[in-house]
Amino acid sequence: MGHIVLTVERIDQVMPFYVDVLGFKLSDFALRPFKAYFFHVNARHHSLALIETGTNGIHHLMMELFSLDDVGQAYDLAQGEEGRIGATLGRHTNDFMTSFYAYTPSCFMVEYGWGGRNIRPETWTSMELEHGPSLWGHDRTWLPPEQRAEAREMRLKAAELGVRQPVQVIKGNHELMAGTCPWWDMTVRAAE
Ligand SMILES: [Fe+2]
Repeated sequence: MGHIVLTVERIDQVMPFYVDVLGFKLSDFALRPFKAYFFHVNARHHSLALIETGTNGIHHLMMELFSLDDVGQAYDLAQGEEGRIGATLGRHTNDFMTSFYAYTPSCFMVEYGWGGRNIRPETWTSMELEHGPSLWGHDRTWLPPEQRAEAREMRLKAAELGVRQPVQVIKGNHELMAGTCPWWDMTVRAAE
């Protein structure tokens, strides 16, 4: 279980309950292409998020997988069904999750992903996400056309500005290769 995201009419009306009563801490927030606030209670970047879409309900549940291939193989399955995908494969700017979203029969979505990030809550300071919620991908079929276009613009801008984040791995789901990067290794070899 990764996190839950609730859609609400007004974030400012429900935030005090989660922050002041339940003790959630703000991780970060996005104001464009839609309002989204992310909260943590431990090292997981967010266990709860609130997005403002004008309705109240569950937006999605996030399930995190051990292997990136689990996500890709499920994506193949979901793509086989008309209308199943709610957001295409993509990667988030804040928790670095690589994921896609699929509709459940109850019309909320399940985010199926890999590689979520840990933070250090003691030293963390919250900030605005200037590039929106996704580094690439996550084309959201549920967004109105103008916001969908704005989201795409923001992703392209992030790419143009060179925004890249390291892959988050755990023991057992990756193998570390020799060397640093092909360009650096070549430069070192040439100098020897
Ligand atoms: Fe999510």
